[in-house]
Amino acid sequence: MSLWNWLKSLPGPQIKVEPPGPKSREIIKKGEKVLATSTREEFYPAIAKMEGDVIWDVDGNIYIDFFAGVAVLNVGSRNPEVIQAIQTQLNRFIHDAPQDFYDEIQVIAAEKLASVAPGNFSKKVFFANSGAESVECAMKVAQLARKAHWFIAFVPSFHGRTLGSLALTASKKVHRKGYLVYPYVEHVPYSYCYRCPYKLTPDVCDVWCAKIIEEILFEHYIDPNDVAAIFVEPITGEGGYVVPHPKFIPTLRKICDKHGILLVSDEVQMGFGRTGKWWGIQNFDVVPDVMTCAKSIAAGVPLGACVFNAKYDFPYPGAHSSTYGGNALALAAMVKVIEIIEREKLYERARKLGEQGLKKLKDELEDNPIVGDIRGLGLAQGIEIVKDKKTKAFAPDLRDEIIKRCVKKGLLLLPCGKSTIRIAPPLIIREEMYEKGLDIIIDSIKEVSK
Ligand SMILES: Cc1ncc(COP(=O)(O)O)c(C=O)c1O
Repeated sequence: MSLWNWLKSLPGPQIKVEPPGPKSREIIKKGEKVLATSTREEFYPAIAKMEGDVIWDVDGNIYIDFFAGVAVLNVGSRNPEVIQAIQTQLNRFIHDAPQDFYDEIQVIAAEKLASVAPGNFSKKVFFANSGAESVECAMKVAQLARKAHWFIAFVPSFHGRTLGSLALTASKKVHRKGYLVYPYVEHVPYSYCYRCPYKLTPDVCDVWCAKIIEEILFEHYIDPNDVAAIFVEPITGEGGYVVPHPKFIPTLRKICDKHGILLVSDEVQMGFGRTGKWWGIQNFDVVPDVMTCAKSIAAGVPLGACVFNAKYDFPYPGAHSSTYGGNALALAAMVKVIEIIEREKLYERARKLGEQGLKKLKDELEDNPIVGDIRGLGLAQGIEIVKDKKTKAFAPDLRDEIIKRCVKKGLLLLPCGKSTIRIAPPLIIREEMYEKGLDIIIDSIKEVSK
């Protein structure tokens, strides 16, 4: 069955019992006792099954998927071709010891990933198990390549929760509260034009948000020779789906080139077609030295990867390794995901649907008193909810109320940033489901703003 026939066979949203229904509530109650406190919310239903662009809860309700397992399921949940590729690999082996032995799937997977990565130079790939681990790898690559220990990152950015990646993360205070992190990270504000911390406007700012690194940081307290890398998300993910000024990332590239600093594009959330290009950074015509990937690369099988210019390879064996990094099932899934994205040109689909959707959201919501900013690239879109348009005061309560209403109408989605609604469906989402999902959001915002 073709991808599109498979999707045609799937149902649309259907709410039979108000979510979370009785069976969901039972699971939530038991889960609260045994699962460590994390980021779950009690107003979401307990999930029973996910297929393509729809989700069933344990009470029999069906929802449109607008979160894709947090931007993980770009090719859809349980994509039949991915299942087939995993099954074929299952018949060979599940796990060998991929960083202690060579095997063919690793070579095929690394070649394939490097072939779609930007930059006309040879690349090396380190496979890890998660986004945070690929960020840790990038930190190590940069430290050894540059023989330097400082990193520069942005507020609000998210790069992971391990103590190295957490040191780069600066999106919500609660992520870092109480933890002692890697100390040599300097943060500057991200290019967040809607809330420019310098109170400038994009037409006259001359991207001060990037230039401040040279003109203040490097002039006054960090020698650029001590900086290993600048880590940047091409669009902030957890930090609120903020699209930067078009010159922000190109200016970072220039600063890095001038001083020999490595530019790391964290593509964990924005890579693999989500923003309308293969990689988020390609929207800015910039080639990074290092890329970190995870989430969507293996359609839900845990996998991370750090892809870097081969000249920055680890200088000696043992400098980095991992037991599971490069797990055979995950790599088989990744090879198939790349094939599907290329064959179906899902990045182009994301761009077209995204443009259509953004126009609809702007037409319907631009004048709404609680809608501050509507933004996005491809199928990475954010609607920032505010108390009022003038003060731009954050309105997390209103945002959460909108999300709760969407859930009750058959749409599952997540928040991001302080007060933003995150729209990140699978890139294969049926057009009518995408439109329906947007209608649910629009109706819910209009109800809450009354
Ligand atoms: C940009 C970015 N980097 C890194 C991570 C960390 O990935 P993981 O949760 O797989 O460790 C995330 C997770 O949301 C992310 O969005």
